[in-house]
Amino acid sequence: MRRWTGDAFGITFVGVGLVTASQDRRIPIAQPLIGREEQEAVLEVLASGQLAQGPRVAAFERAFAQYVGTRHAVAVANGTAALVVALQAHGVGPGDEVVTTPFSFVATATSILACGARPVFADVDPDDLNLNPDAVERALSPRTRAVVAVHLYGHPARIDELAELCDRRGLALIEDAAQAHGAAHHGRRVGSFGTGCFSFYPTKNMTTGEGGMITTDDDEVAARARQIRDHGQSSRYRHDIFGLNWRMAEVAAAIGLAQLAKLEAWNERRIRNAAVLSAELRGVRTPRVREGDRHVFHQYTIRVPEGRERLRVALESSGIGTAVHYPLPIHRQPLFVRLGYGEESFPVAERAAEEVLSLPVHPALTDVDLERIVDAVNRATR
Ligand SMILES: Cc1ncc(COP(=O)(O)O)c(C=O)c1O
Repeated sequence: MRRWTGDAFGITFVGVGLVTASQDRRIPIAQPLIGREEQEAVLEVLASGQLAQGPRVAAFERAFAQYVGTRHAVAVANGTAALVVALQAHGVGPGDEVVTTPFSFVATATSILACGARPVFADVDPDDLNLNPDAVERALSPRTRAVVAVHLYGHPARIDELAELCDRRGLALIEDAAQAHGAAHHGRRVGSFGTGCFSFYPTKNMTTGEGGMITTDDDEVAARARQIRDHGQSSRYRHDIFGLNWRMAEVAAAIGLAQLAKLEAWNERRIRNAAVLSAELRGVRTPRVREGDRHVFHQYTIRVPEGRERLRVALESSGIGTAVHYPLPIHRQPLFVRLGYGEESFPVAERAAEEVLSLPVHPALTDVDLERIVDAVNRATR
């Protein structure tokens, strides 16, 4: 039975005190947690009359920079905008190549296309499905301008090796940390090794509804990102560089400040839920965490070499939500096939797309929910 209360996480649960009610409940794959603090913060913004980017966005930026451990944080409208603005702030444009992973959400690569540059894919590591630095090195060319590394599922990529490689070759390192708020390598948070790009979409470890953030220690990159998110303005109605409206709204920032205060408790709960699943699951390959890394389990993703669909259907019929992140690698997406990527092969990513299955791991899970997930998986894989 659950020992923690809704209060500890700023949320209200109904009926979870009863085993029967809990057992009937469908367990979603993700569940945004919105509490009193968020509600009050939003009402305050509405009462203030300041709705577009203003003091709350500035306060959220300061708090997020401090959390990640960077000099700057620049808030934007969503995680995709964070990637586009970060790439443009590093000067990525037509004629440039950007090396990245084929095993991610499509925005990792379409943001490169949006800058007029060409994504060049490098295969992932079979252990954590993050960019393999050796494959990145092989994919470099004289046109390479940047590397976009994703911290997939909340597990840090081999970021110190990638940072060293980018340093040595004079390349920008963009960290797609959309799924990795609070993940760290030897205590240093992701988003502080290169230029970090975060998403606050509702399924993420923290949300603002829609929202994104760029983190950097580089004063010039931060200044350019601020300009690009605001029509390239240097002063009112003076437009020096290309930019669009990628700003964050005050309501989103107010929600973000309230969520950030709860993020560490939620991350700890995710890590603890993942530990329970890894200790109890049988017959599937559970996620590996590299030594020295803090994996914040945005997703808890198992590998099922045979019978993934059977397992998925069995879990769904037991009321357990699942998801496949991702069923089609980016180079196999129709858009990218049309762009001429269809002939390339990235065998580790392609195999992963056939085997991965994400199980619920979010902080709203009760101990009874965890037992149900373990029982259902172990029954189906017996
Ligand atoms: C790895 C990755 N990159 C980029 C994004 C884009 O973020 P957003 O949905 O906020 O635009 C997401 C999230 O959806 C993501 O998971």
